[in-house]
Amino acid sequence: MQIFIDSADVREIREAAAMGVIDGCTTNPTLVAKVGRKLEDVIPEICSIVDGPISAEVISTDVDGMVAEGRELVKIHKNIVVKIPLIGDGLKAVRIFSAEGIKTNVTLCFSPMQALLAAKAGATYISPFVGRLDDIQYEGMELIEQIVTIYENYGFNTQVLVASVRGPMHLVQAALMGAHCATVPFNVITQILKHPLTDKGLEQFLADAKKMKA
Ligand code: G3P
Repeated sequence: MQIFIDSADVREIREAAAMGVIDGCTTNPTLVAKVGRKLEDVIPEICSIVDGPISAEVISTDVDGMVAEGRELVKIHKNIVVKIPLIGDGLKAVRIFSAEGIKTNVTLCFSPMQALLAAKAGATYISPFVGRLDDIQYEGMELIEQIVTIYENYGFNTQVLVASVRGPMHLVQAALMGAHCATVPFNVITQILKHPLTDKGLEQFLADAKKMKA
């Protein structure tokens, strides 16, 4: 399973990249606003850190605007994936990008039929937001299982990119369900690394190392 970091914070991205655990990066307007930088400044820097798919989101909501924005974004770097909201005009833009060989990540997916339409439009990635479904008492990971099954049933090539990940168990389930990728906040990466038995075992090794004969 590919792991993308869900962040526009280059410090976090550098840290995760140094561990060799990330295959790409996803951003969105909220994440970019959070770091207080311009999209046209932060995306090229991320592309210089991570050699993999880098999702940059359009802010237009009409097809012409999305297409114009996306065509500009892909000029930044060969790894740019244009992130498009799952709305009617978004699918029109996806279809145009698909014909032009521009990769797309269709975002804000909350139902299996939305995911089916995105795949039919030619999306490269689909981003179902599992955490936001959990937040309103739905079982977010059920959506992943449905989409993986539907895509397999009909041979769609769109890659399931689990998004809105809230903790390590989302990743365990995503991997068991056969999702192609997941995009993960940096804090979840650190949560995965932090295991009490690892810490306890290391502490004991270090204590015993002091007893080793020199
Ligand atoms: O990639 C989408 C992700 O950033 C949304 O996460 O926690 O705002 O639902 P969240």
